[in-house]
Amino acid sequence: MLIDRFNRKITNLRISVTDRCNLRCFYCHKEGFLSKKCDELTPDEISKIAQVFKDLGIKKVKITGGEPLVRQDIVEIIAEMPEFDEISMTTNGILLEKYAMDLKKSGLNRVNVSLDSLNPEKYRDLSRGKLEDVLRGLEAAVEAELTPVKLNMVVMKGINENEVNDMIHFISKYNKDGLNVILQLIELLKLPGLESYWFDIGIIENRISAIAKDVRVRKMQKRKQYLIDEGAIEFVRPTDNTEFCYNCNRIRVTCDGKVKPCLLRNDNLVDVRGLEGEELRQRILEAVNLRKPYFREKIEVESRIKNCAVNGAVNSTVSGTIRGTVRGDLLERSGN
Ligand code: 5AD
Repeated sequence: MLIDRFNRKITNLRISVTDRCNLRCFYCHKEGFLSKKCDELTPDEISKIAQVFKDLGIKKVKITGGEPLVRQDIVEIIAEMPEFDEISMTTNGILLEKYAMDLKKSGLNRVNVSLDSLNPEKYRDLSRGKLEDVLRGLEAAVEAELTPVKLNMVVMKGINENEVNDMIHFISKYNKDGLNVILQLIELLKLPGLESYWFDIGIIENRISAIAKDVRVRKMQKRKQYLIDEGAIEFVRPTDNTEFCYNCNRIRVTCDGKVKPCLLRNDNLVDVRGLEGEELRQRILEAVNLRKPYFREKIEVESRIKNCAVNGAVNSTVSGTIRGTVRGDLLERSGN
């Protein structure tokens, strides 16, 4: 079992297989995106790295991008993966119809599908994609039993905040015999220029919690899942989540083979490309050793400013700015 210096167990691995994408969502924070062209890992390289993580105790793997399905060898990537308790993938669904069955046969267990609107024009405006393709991809995923599928909906003011009911109604038709589609409502990360679209999904959460038959709290980031007649709804709110780092059980690999100890930092990546065996193992352990709760440092700085401040006005302005930075930095290509 991998445990870091802060006693956090690392059980989940996220592997970005590409930073290319076939959509252009206006709000996208581009988790896997590198400034220069990514020299993508081969299926064999991915499998070797994953195997060492498995030997070190990783239980679950998520394949991410960019958009993983733009890789023509995506089925081979999945097929060559060692066995884990769960292998899942985050996809925009555009190419899912074509690949769902083969992915399932190759060992993929589940998918998250990004879908922010059920209105074709709005969907096109948001993403430049065709809604129909995603809906067919979703059907295929349910058919192939890549379930429960999680539908990732980023809720945005003035764009789709009034579509949550439609979305709940939409998932209900998949949940007649068991939980096949879960709706995951995600709070928008306020990247520069997106502030005016930010919507407090706490308002929706209050409404849903009032009608919920049951609530489960997931260990990961203390996320809540509400069970209602139509299915299950999860809320992802990294913006207000001080538990974010303390419960972090993830580690990442970038599309060009660097271990990324913390989502929120790019200054401590550990290159493992080309390494094998004991050397690879040691480098991964080095990366784990670099893990440090990002919030802890920020919170420490904040409290130092509070203690030093001579007057309240200065205090709240400065710490407000720092808080803003922390939130702005929370770039989770989320949905898990
Ligand atoms: N805010 C919140 N979530 C985002 N995603 C991408 N950009 C943002 C953002 N600005 C997440 C969505 C999408 C996934 C691929 O990345 O959940 O489904």
